[in-house]
Amino acid sequence: MTEHSSKVLLVEDDDSFRDILATLMRRVGHEVDVAQDGKIATNILAIHDYDLVISDIKMPNLDGIELLKWVKAEKDIPVVLMTGFSEILETQSAISLGADYFLPKPFKEEDLEKAVEHCQKIKEKKKSEEQLASQEPEEEGSADSLYCKISIDDFIAGRKMPFSIYVKLPNEKFVKIAYGGEDLSVDRIRKYKDKGMKHLYMLFSDFQLYLEMNLKIARVIPKAKILKAKKLSFIKHAGEVIQEKLYTAEVDKDSFFEAKDFLSNALKVVSEDEDIFNLLDILKQHSDYLYAHSLAVSLYSVILAKKSQWHSIPNRYRIALAGFFHDIGKKEIDREILDKPRPQLSREERALIETHSIRSQEIVNQIKSLPPDLPQIVYQHHEDCHGYGYPLKLKKEQIHPIARLIAVVDTFCNYFLPSPHSPGMTGKEAVEQIMRFDRERLDRTFLLLLAKTFHYEMKDVD
Ligand SMILES: [Fe+2]
Ligand SMILES: [Fe+2]
Repeated sequence: MTEHSSKVLLVEDDDSFRDILATLMRRVGHEVDVAQDGKIATNILAIHDYDLVISDIKMPNLDGIELLKWVKAEKDIPVVLMTGFSEILETQSAISLGADYFLPKPFKEEDLEKAVEHCQKIKEKKKSEEQLASQEPEEEGSADSLYCKISIDDFIAGRKMPFSIYVKLPNEKFVKIAYGGEDLSVDRIRKYKDKGMKHLYMLFSDFQLYLEMNLKIARVIPKAKILKAKKLSFIKHAGEVIQEKLYTAEVDKDSFFEAKDFLSNALKVVSEDEDIFNLLDILKQHSDYLYAHSLAVSLYSVILAKKSQWHSIPNRYRIALAGFFHDIGKKEIDREILDKPRPQLSREERALIETHSIRSQEIVNQIKSLPPDLPQIVYQHHEDCHGYGYPLKLKKEQIHPIARLIAVVDTFCNYFLPSPHSPGMTGKEAVEQIMRFDRERLDRTFLLLLAKTFHYEMKDVD
């Protein structure tokens, strides 16, 4: 056998047709065994391994559809069905049973070869996906780094996914539960949930596709020019900062780590775009505070979004990005001025700092691969629901809802995180400060959600 030849089980009840087909295939180098019907085929398959099965549909004892069912349940090999015009209806059920290829009779020798080639490709694809799935932990992390975790509650079921979906077993191995193109029904998802599964996984390379599919943006992120190692170390560093500096036991663990995973996925995706990666890198280089603050606003905004009605992944993706970049305009402002306590700022210095939201808008606006409303969101993150904010003194209904969410979390993070002017405080204390000083100007819905997240007693609020 050569590299391009396959070991084939040919199942056909017509003796002369079976002989012709077997001869044709052997002539081009395939190894062929034959069976007169489906029953005999299952007996042979139970003992021997094949690369593919080519079978007729109408046969005595066990027909092609029954054989297909048996093969898909017992073996992981492609099945080609030879179909006649009268077998159109059977073809429909064969598709849903997972037939890999159809050979409509009469067919030519080259059609037969095409079917074999198709099956070889399926096998190769499966093999490389399996290798990926069983890959040993890498230096940068574990096999986890190859997969993106999606909360099972957020997974958009009941539609065809153009890529494969996996679950993670307790032994840290990933197992494919749906092939690309297969329908993952709501019912199936519910069954996984009933078994206690909280997450589904997809290959990282597919996550971007998933986002784009959901965002309905036919935008292709340019090919990465940044070194992979640099990107990975960036993402890893972000993860460490989140875990070490932003974690608080006040928030329930599931929500926190789910948001953390989501942020890592979003960072991996946006890091593929050189411009976005460079912006993120600027945040990191600018100051530890601005970097941690941006990650914190992103993280807690994603947590609040999940607790509000914004369940969809695209919305949370936009929210994560708004968190990263709302203060990016500060990169253009002198560090000394930024680090001064507010009461010590001159009127000019305060005015200069207040230009940061316009600067953020201009910077974000230049990156076409970011969501289209991101410039507006970062522009409005210091607007205030009573119309006293900057730069435009907008009223509540004029402010983008995500900007209102970011404003709440931004204020929270200013109290919560240690900064050049404050040692930081617990989440609950930060919420108390907001209720004392900022509650009137912030969006009430998001404020109540924040209070709930940090177990703040609600009686003072209502
Ligand atoms: Fe800001
Ligand atoms: Fe901020």
